[in-house]
This record gives sequence, structure tokens and C-alpha cells, in this order.
Amino acid sequence: MTRHEALDLKKPAIAGGVAHSLRHDSAHKHVTGEAIYIDDMPEPAGTLHAYLGLSTIAHGTIRKMDLSEVEAAPGVVAVLTAKDIPGHNDISPTGLNDEPVFPENEVQFFGQPLFAVIAETREAARRACRLAKIEYEEQPALIDAADADPASPRLVTKPLKLERGEVEKALSAAPRRIKGRMRVGGQDHFYLEGQIALAVPGEDMDVTVHSSTQHPSEVQHMVAHVLGIPSHAVTIEVRRMGGGFGGKETQANLFAAVAALAAKRTGRPVKLRPDRDDDMIATGKRHDFLIDYEVGFDDDGTILGVDLRYAARCGFSADLSGAVTDRALFHCDNAYFYPAVRAVSAPLYTNTVSNTAFRGFGGPQGMVGAERIIEEVAFALGKDPLEIRKRNFYGETDRNVTPYHQKVEDNIVHRIVAELEETADYAGRRRAIAEFNATSDIVKRGIALTPVKFGISFTATHFNQAGALVHVYTDGSVHLNHGGTEMGQGLYVKVAQVVAEEFQIDIDRVKITATTTGKVPNTSATAASSGSDLNGMAAQNAVRQIKNRLIDFAARHYEVPKEQVVFLPNRVRVGNQEIPFAELVKQAYMDRVQLSAAGFYKTPKIHWDREKGRGHPFYYFAYGAACTEVSIDTLTGEYMVERVDILHETGRSLNPAIDLGQIEGGFVQGMGWLTTEELVWDEKGMLRTHAPSTYKIPLASDRPKIFNVKLADWAENAEPTVHRSKAVGEPPFMLAISVLHALSDAVASVANHKICPRLDAPATPERVLFAVERLKAEAAK
Ligand code: MTE
Ligand code: MOS
Repeated sequence: MTRHEALDLKKPAIAGGVAHSLRHDSAHKHVTGEAIYIDDMPEPAGTLHAYLGLSTIAHGTIRKMDLSEVEAAPGVVAVLTAKDIPGHNDISPTGLNDEPVFPENEVQFFGQPLFAVIAETREAARRACRLAKIEYEEQPALIDAADADPASPRLVTKPLKLERGEVEKALSAAPRRIKGRMRVGGQDHFYLEGQIALAVPGEDMDVTVHSSTQHPSEVQHMVAHVLGIPSHAVTIEVRRMGGGFGGKETQANLFAAVAALAAKRTGRPVKLRPDRDDDMIATGKRHDFLIDYEVGFDDDGTILGVDLRYAARCGFSADLSGAVTDRALFHCDNAYFYPAVRAVSAPLYTNTVSNTAFRGFGGPQGMVGAERIIEEVAFALGKDPLEIRKRNFYGETDRNVTPYHQKVEDNIVHRIVAELEETADYAGRRRAIAEFNATSDIVKRGIALTPVKFGISFTATHFNQAGALVHVYTDGSVHLNHGGTEMGQGLYVKVAQVVAEEFQIDIDRVKITATTTGKVPNTSATAASSGSDLNGMAAQNAVRQIKNRLIDFAARHYEVPKEQVVFLPNRVRVGNQEIPFAELVKQAYMDRVQLSAAGFYKTPKIHWDREKGRGHPFYYFAYGAACTEVSIDTLTGEYMVERVDILHETGRSLNPAIDLGQIEGGFVQGMGWLTTEELVWDEKGMLRTHAPSTYKIPLASDRPKIFNVKLADWAENAEPTVHRSKAVGEPPFMLAISVLHALSDAVASVANHKICPRLDAPATPERVLFAVERLKAEAAK
């Protein structure tokens, strides 16, 4: 019996407390179409529609912008440019003032929004956009990060350096050394619901914006900033997003700001929803990286020192690139101990869209670098990469200091990997694959088992706080609100489970309500996988305040000691009598007890000194491992993912069903990133892959043929997180690195595993084919 079943037996009486595998609260509505997204909301009377006019050059100045024909087009009510912004023309989340809503003069990437058309219908606005006559003075554009000045590249923000031990000494003393460079591609978010905002003007300065955002508070501040009004005049509401994946952490700002600007300007509600193509062209993506590495190691494969440079194509503004490139460095070790290490970031300025958050937030790119190093060492020594991995794991009590000087104190990677190795029969299948490859000329198989250790917390310490608002009504039903947003990840149901558990009431007594800046202020983005950790604790805190008041009341009213007031399933035992929860609530109301509370939480223990590159930026780590087997066709480069086995831990899961969904979804999304999803910009800086016809996300048919996903049900968080659970949103994404390495293993078989394939990501079929050809040619020499 698993722990979850044991829990179920112990507490049969409330329907839907923690550890129950409840379905997503909106699952049925997602499937039937009843879930309301912003574009499904009934439009208020008089709603106008906005559309964005995008630049057609990557870099230059605007000599002349003639919008007269746009203004004269049928249905057009207003045209907005930089000149129409009453407040600050800036939506940079960093405060660096490097991201205008609309540029005044300088165009910095192909597809940059230059103006907005507001019209009676969306179609009219869209057509009118095309009538703009813009003369540019073009300037040279830097598109590819590899073309940046190697000596003194232009950066969008301050780079980071992590250093521990004496790297030069370690490298020069090492019996063996390897140097290399790896390219890791970016990724479009491909959320099903694109960017969208609906702004409704109110009296005075007021405006309410329905925004598809992971960060309502930031959108609120941006709208206020752009309109030049106080934050109190702006309310942002988000019931749900049809996917965010980091793409709505900052990228919603522009759409909300333009919709709000247009609404205040026209006095009518305004909706802004770009086409999928425009959405892909004009919004930031995952950063692609160039990773330069040097590793020193001994003849057994123990790593002695590494020297790393992570350069990222950041685009024209900083956006979150500082934090993303920092997180890449924080994960340049993955689960491995580097006795001496130096890692530096290079957040490069380029004339491309400003790259942003995407599931893992630079962590995946960091880890891909670590795994390449492992692979290099393994090939140099003719050993199985898994052996090199295990040899270099962080120790449980020693060899446990990270490049940022935090000790790894909750290491369970050894147990996770050992269990998966066993259940996936890694050794047996490796032998079987070798036998298969020996007799199969064209189709080759490969296998890889890779670990994940991912740091949980925002690395900017102050973001690690959250608020919640809980009301209990006199019928005993509960209204729950918190600062976290729902993007499909199941945050709402998890927090509701925490509340149900705490009050000991059935989950259907808890109403989940839309996130709004009017109820819980000054929130952080729902990001860094911290949603349930932060908001679960804040909601629990609110409930405990109300419970304590109920306990005080009951003790007073029934004249019993407080210890004799006990919350049982849907009732409260007071002394020797049991009172239904709703009845006690009613009695407390009659006695004028406050039945509403604002909860708060801040993560303990964490601190980080960026200047020194030292601290304890992560509250804890989340662990997992995946074993992937693939087959490749060596004549075409086509491949199949034959089987995937995953063992992942989420501490004591708040909801195993939701967690399994996150693991499966994260893995498949990660697989898409590392295999078929390729972003291509041409020399002019135009994104050529801006629709599903050219940008290939995984299809249902790309799902692993065998897909065994298991939660490590013995795990629990060593830290006192909400019910000792762990974050799950991002870590499983990186389990997909096993696919890249399984492909590499299959490619390597064509040269008897003597040459490291150095397969870059995404490992598209073309890249797999080229690698096969190259290895065959080299082996024949
Ligand atoms: N799952 C779904 N279905 N849709 C999403 O947009 N975003 C991911 C992850 N899982 C996402 C998702 C990202 S990038 C993060 S940071 C977390 O969910 C955020 O939610 P959490 O902190 O509540 O886990
Ligand atoms: Mo997730 S990339 O932190 O929104």
C-alpha cells in the first residue's frame, strides 16, 4: 500500500483533503469547452478591438510613420503610438527602462509593435494595420549570439560569476582535459490560449483589465505606470490561463497596457488578441544558449574542475534575462559535485524579440551543459555515461557544496537513480540494445538515464512571499482567494485541498475564485514552481487565524478548555458534544466573531548575495530521474521514443494525480524543446517558424510508446513546506534531457561508441542524420 492510500484510509470522512488524487477542478470544463477564457467572456456593450502594427526590420530608426490611411480605414476609432502614452512609455519588468510599449524612434527587432489600431471589429483593426506606411533607416542587426563580439559583447544586464576552488590549478593538474562548445536552442511557449487582454474603463482614473497573465500585480503596476495613474485605480483579474509556461510572466504586460490605454482613451471596453503568428513573432521565448566548457578529470571519470561560459541570446531588452542566465549557472552542476568550478554568464544583446521565462527558467539549459560534460568524460574513457554520472553525484554528507556555496543537504539522487535503474532494467536493456544494434544495420537504438536536481525558490529573495484571503460565510461555505494564478497546473485545486484539510470540510464547501489584485495585493508571479508552496502556506495561515477564533469562541461559549475543541470531518467536537461545522460558524457569527482573514507566508532560510556569488538561494531541491530508449533511422535521421521510465519525487504529494500530470506534461514539453521544436530566424531577423506548420511541438503520436511514470512515494520534504510537499511545475521538464542523450547514444553506436556525437539541441532529425554521417566518416578515417 502506498502512503497515499494509507492516508485515504485514515481519513475517509472528508472528501478532498490533501494527498487525494482529485481531478483538476476545471478538467471537465476544459474538455467540454465550458471553461471561460478571456475571449469567451461575454463582451461588454460597445467593446472595441485593438490590433498591433509590427515592424518589418530588425534594427534601425523610423524616418517617417504615415498612419493617415490607417486612421481613415472603415471602422477605425483610434490609432495609438508612443505619443499617446500619458504616463511612462516603458514596461520593463526590471526597471531598467529598456522596453517601450511602442518605440519613439529606434526599432530593435523584426516584429516589434510600433502602433495599435482600435476599431469596431477585430477584422477591421487587423486590416487597417496593413495600411501603415513606414519609412525606416536600416542599421546593421545582430541576430545570432554567435556573431556577438567575443571580446566585449553588448550585454542587456550584468553578468554573474560563480566560483569555488582554484579552477586553473585543478584543470592543469587534471590527468585529462576536454574543451568544447554546445548550442542549445530556444523554444516558443505555444500556450493554447494566446496573449490577450480585455480592458474595461471605470469612473475617474479606474480601469479593470482581464489579462491572461501569470503576474497580475506586475500587470497592474505596468498599466498604472503607462497610464500615469496610481496602482489603486487599476484592477487586474485572471480566472485562468490556457497555459502560461513562463510566457505570461512578463509578456502579458504589453497587451494589457495597450488595451487599458485604448479603453481610457476611447471610454469603451477594448480587447486585444493577436493572431498566433503575431503572438509568436512579437513575444519573447526561451533563451537559446552557446555553452563553452572545459573539464578536467581523472582516469576513473571523476571530475576535478570545470570552467564554463553560458552565453544567451537575450534579445533587445533585459526582461528576465538576468535571472534566467543566473538560473542557468545555478544548474550548471545538475546533480554533480565540481571540486573546482568557475561559471560565468553572458546575457547578450541581440536584435531579436526579448527572450523571457520558460519552464525551468534557464535551469534546463544549465543542466544540458552539465550532461554534455558527463558525456564527454564518458566517451573519452570508453565508459557508460551512467557510471560517470553516479561517480560524480553530490555526496550525502561530503562533496556536497554547490558552485554558489550552498550545501546540498537533502540529497536523494542516489536512491532515485538506483531505484529507477532497477525498475527500468537499465543494465539488461543496455545489453539487449547492444545485441540489437549489432545485427540491425539501419535502425539503431540508444538508451540514457539522467538525473534532475532542481533548486526551488525565486533567486530574488523578496519574491518568496504570498498572501491569501479566506472568508467563511454563515452557511459554513468558504470563499478562497490567493495571489497565485491558474494556468492548467492545478494550483487552485491544491490550495483548495489545503483549506479543506485545515478546516476538515469537504472540498465542495470551498469556492475557488479568480485571482485579482483587489483581494490580494503585491503578489509575485506564479512562477519558479513555487505556487503551491507559497500560496498553500498563505491560505493555511489564513484558515488557522479563523480556526483559532472559532476555537476561542467555542471554548468561551461552551465553557470548555481550548484543547477540547477539535475539528473533525465536517464537524467540531466541543467538550463531549459534536457540532456541525456550519452550525458552529453561525453561532460564532451571532457572537460577532470575525470570519474572514488575510493570510501571509514568506519562505524561511533563503538569502543570496549576487555580487559575491554566495548564499542559500534555494529552500530545497526537487529530484527525479528518467530513463529513455529511442530508435533512430540512420538513413533519414527520423527517430521514435520507444520507452520512458520516470521516477520523480514531489515530497508528500498534495495531489498525486495532478503531480503525475505535471510530470508527464513537463517531460513531453521538454522532449519537444530538445528534439523537434526549432526556431529559425533569417538574415533579416525575421522569425520564419511562426506557426504550427513550421514550428513542430510534440504530437500525441510523439508520446513515448511505453511511458511509465511513478512518484517516489517514500519521499517527503525535509523542510516544513505545506504538508511536506514539493514543487512540481518545472523540475520534470528536465527529465527530457534523457531523450537527447538516448539519441546521442543511438548515434554513437554507428562508430562503436568511440566518438562523442556532441549532438546539439534541438536534435532534429536533420541534426541526428548529420551526426550519424559525421561519425561514420570519422570512424572510417
Ligand atoms: N502546467 C500547465 N498545465 N500549464 C502551464 O502553463 N506552467 C509551468 C508549470 N506547469 C504550466 C504548467 C511553469 S513555467 C511553472 S513556473 C509552474 O507550472 C507554475 O505553477 P506552480 O508554481 O503552481 O507549479
Ligand atoms: Mo515558470 S518559467 O517559472 O513561469
